[in-house]
Amino acid sequence: MTRHLLDLGDAGGNAIAAMINDAIDRKAARLGWPKARPDADRPLEGRVLAMIFEKNSTRTRVSFDMAMRQLGGSSMVMDASSTQLGRGESIADTARVLSRLVDAIMIRTDDHAKAQEMAQYATVPVINGLTDRSHPCQIVADLLTIIEQGKALPGLELAWLGDGNNVLNSILEAAGLMKFNVRAGTPQGYDPDAGFVAAARDLGAKVILTRDANEAAAGADVVVTDTWVSMGQNHAAEKLAAMAPYQVNSALMRQAKPDAIFLHCLPAHIGEEVSEAVFESPQSVVFDEAENRIHAQKSILLWAFGLL
Ligand code: CP
Ligand code: NVA
Repeated sequence: MTRHLLDLGDAGGNAIAAMINDAIDRKAARLGWPKARPDADRPLEGRVLAMIFEKNSTRTRVSFDMAMRQLGGSSMVMDASSTQLGRGESIADTARVLSRLVDAIMIRTDDHAKAQEMAQYATVPVINGLTDRSHPCQIVADLLTIIEQGKALPGLELAWLGDGNNVLNSILEAAGLMKFNVRAGTPQGYDPDAGFVAAARDLGAKVILTRDANEAAAGADVVVTDTWVSMGQNHAAEKLAAMAPYQVNSALMRQAKPDAIFLHCLPAHIGEEVSEAVFESPQSVVFDEAENRIHAQKSILLWAFGLL
């Protein structure tokens, strides 16, 4: 069976734990090495990953490329608009062609159904590099970052502030799988996907949805936010106004535990979802989080290739 990672549930909790452990080991084993030097075992030697981007990317693009190099393989970027996909070639045909040409596919798309269709027709692993619905690879890096900071996942209290978007959906999925709790402070009309909330609760995670930012942050171990306007969305004035009370600033961080950390998948909009004081504070580990995209990506790829 070809392994795809469209959402975290495709891997499951045990595999995610294995990914995080492998990422910690591989990261430690290459400390101080030149960034593109392959790991000693070169587990993906001779393998190539094609990356399809229908939306912009800095971290996902560079970290997947570096991950493949560090695993001994290589990657190529396909900007959707300059491929035949941009001229209407079907996802199904693209999936079948790429399956003959490359060893794995990563897709970032505006429509989750396109990633699902790619996986349906591909005979090589398909990895979701962000859709309108979810961002699973980001959350593997986030969990790695949380654990690196000495915080155990079971029972952890994670506060989300702002838009109930694709990143929050994947956090909720992770909460169910890894047994931590989420308090999401979002304005009316910007709740996370109800299916992700229900699934997390079914798996035993405590999920509180509140309109009160302070209630969301109270006693949190980890405080997370993201842009108020995701790629492909309009900069609607009413949305920005609705989000304003959910800014992560110093007053809000004081509601969390004194040793709470701040995460943001980036890119950040300083002065909107996060204040400069919090973003630049010692509690902010956003650049560790960004670096961890490489280490998480490597584990995800190894899992997809059946090597984890
Ligand atoms: N966090 C994240 O996915 O960043 P990019 O959009 O730069 O890939
Ligand atoms: N929610 C953001 C995440 C960017 C990495 C977006 O979809 O644009």
